Amino acid sequence: MHKFALIFCFASSMASTAFAEGDYDNGKKLAKSWHCTNCHGVTGNERWPVKGEVLASIPMLAGQPAGYLIRTLNQYKTRERVDDHEISKMSERAQSLSDQDIEDISAYFSAQKRY
Ligand code: HEC
Repeated sequence: MHKFALIFCFASSMASTAFAEGDYDNGKKLAKSWHCTNCHGVTGNERWPVKGEVLASIPMLAGQPAGYLIRTLNQYKTRERVDDHEISKMSERAQSLSDQDIEDISAYFSAQKRY
């Protein structure tokens, strides 16, 4: 009995984090207007050098947990994580994003299928 209750709780908490407050449709628009899709791809599946050797690697965003993307973008924003590469400059880009932008964009990329 206990086991079932635990599994149920776990499953329902997973479901609520997978569909966090972020607005998917707005996130889709923002990902384009902030040019995130230029590098990460429309579905966040880009993961190789798209701008030649200077940009060594693009990390895949598709299907990452929304909470992870939110945390990472906030780490760039507070410069706890620093990316000052002259092209990607993720730390600088994150400065322009509001908390809501971050949640919406994260909802969009986390819902994408990996391939
Ligand atoms: C010019 C290319 C470029 C653009 C535009 C860009 N990114 Fe990035 N992004 C990168 C690169 C390269 C990295 C890896 C940087 C590092 O080493 O920390 C990265 C890292 C990330 C990460 C960390 C992923 C992980 O798992 O470590 C997230 C999240 C992210 N970008 C989201 C965004 C969002 C949201 C936008 C739009 C606001 C955006 N990126 C715009 C190139 C770009």
